[in-house]
Amino acid sequence: MGVLAIDAGTTGVTALVVTGDGRIDGRGHEEFAQHFPHPGWVEHVPEEIWQATLAACRTALDAASTRPCCVGIANQRETAVLWDRTTLAAPRRAVVWQDRRTTAICERMREHEPRVSELTGLRLDPYFTGTKLTWLAENDPRAWDGTATGDVAVGTVDSYLIARLTGGTRHVTDPSNAARTLLYDIVAGDWSAELCDLFGVPPAALPRIVPNYGEIGRTSPEAFLGLDLPITGVAGDQQAALFGQTCFSPGDVKCTYGTGSFILVNTGGRIVRSDAGLLTTVAWQSPSGEMTYALEGSIFVTGAAIQWLRDGLGLIEAAGDSEFAAASVPDSGGVVFVPALTGLGAPYWDPGARGTILGITRGTRAAHLVRATLDAIAFEVRDIVEAIREMGVETAVLKADGGASANDLLMRLQADQLGTPVERPVIQETTALGAAFLAGLGAGVWSSPEELRETWRLDRRFEPAPDDGRAYARWKRAVERTRGWAAE
Ligand code: G3P
Repeated sequence: MGVLAIDAGTTGVTALVVTGDGRIDGRGHEEFAQHFPHPGWVEHVPEEIWQATLAACRTALDAASTRPCCVGIANQRETAVLWDRTTLAAPRRAVVWQDRRTTAICERMREHEPRVSELTGLRLDPYFTGTKLTWLAENDPRAWDGTATGDVAVGTVDSYLIARLTGGTRHVTDPSNAARTLLYDIVAGDWSAELCDLFGVPPAALPRIVPNYGEIGRTSPEAFLGLDLPITGVAGDQQAALFGQTCFSPGDVKCTYGTGSFILVNTGGRIVRSDAGLLTTVAWQSPSGEMTYALEGSIFVTGAAIQWLRDGLGLIEAAGDSEFAAASVPDSGGVVFVPALTGLGAPYWDPGARGTILGITRGTRAAHLVRATLDAIAFEVRDIVEAIREMGVETAVLKADGGASANDLLMRLQADQLGTPVERPVIQETTALGAAFLAGLGAGVWSSPEELRETWRLDRRFEPAPDDGRAYARWKRAVERTRGWAAE
């Protein structure tokens, strides 16, 4: 018995067929277009996300010898999607989590931030869905029309994909995705009428919230490759990765190194609040209603900085070359790069910060800048782990996954910066694996989280070398120089 897992990420969709013993039996991947209509704006065409999902699933299924018995979904979070409940057509492009267009709306609403944070565990930042919806209501009335009656659905990528997979029969989301919208009360475990009112979102348009695993809906054969399968797991991609890393116990922590990097630590049934710039969020909810929470540090630009070295500067030909280039020099030669290319996320939360390179001399070469980029990723993750530790949460080992976790040099630098080991699993596509685990638990492929732990396999453990802390101190000084630049 296998599970079909869909990871609908920011730049593409990955589909995996995962077997009962946790192996990958089939894989498909399909990219879709990124639209940047203005500086700082990022949009996706929902239909293209759906077509990429179909293509990735078709490839994975064709490659697999195992037939899946259920479907699981993980998705880019916070992205705002509108669609017609009857035709399933989207009246406009989705506004992506990276989009900064609502900076002014956040400023306008700043007085409400304490209350918003109290209810949601989040901050008033353009990152989250709430102000994106306010923007749509104010600036695209033609698309927004129909949300008051619920004829036009308001959702995130999970609920959009479930609508498409089920041929429009389901309009549901889960707590891990709902908890990123600014509309969900993490204590009550439901949409908040007060927040819907504040952001101007009609409750009638919102999906029903269901637990992260169990029977969520059924795929419609007409809509989805002729398949009639139960959808039995869904979660936001970072929470799915936490699940895929089998971080089931309080204190278990993972970092997914993608375009951005997201560090989540399981806090069990406790809602832990941070005043050091971390987010409080739902990790997952079991079918019996039991909630698991997490603290999260969201870093917007890590792998994207390596992409910028490749595409923006032409310093490397492929992202994978960064390891070789960075290893060709003993250190960054005094160069510090703060990749605040879209502002700074956790723990600084400064949309006005911008990328800054300091310490350049006549001896600086491309390799030093590449090395400084890997250093920066390790420093950014350390910023978050330090904030977690300051809250008294012990983090003995960091479990790493995502594309850049394949970079051994980065993993070594990371262990050195944290002063604790970093462990990389054999399967680094942990997000999709987490979606498979949730769906497989929901369908009875696996009977308990303990059984899933048995399938986790270590690829390599990176032990820390002694570090004198000087480079990190220099990083902290450099970060201060980037602050508020675009706002001046
Ligand atoms: O919060 C944003 C996150 O869900 C995006 O993840 O992997 O698609 O970049 P990813």
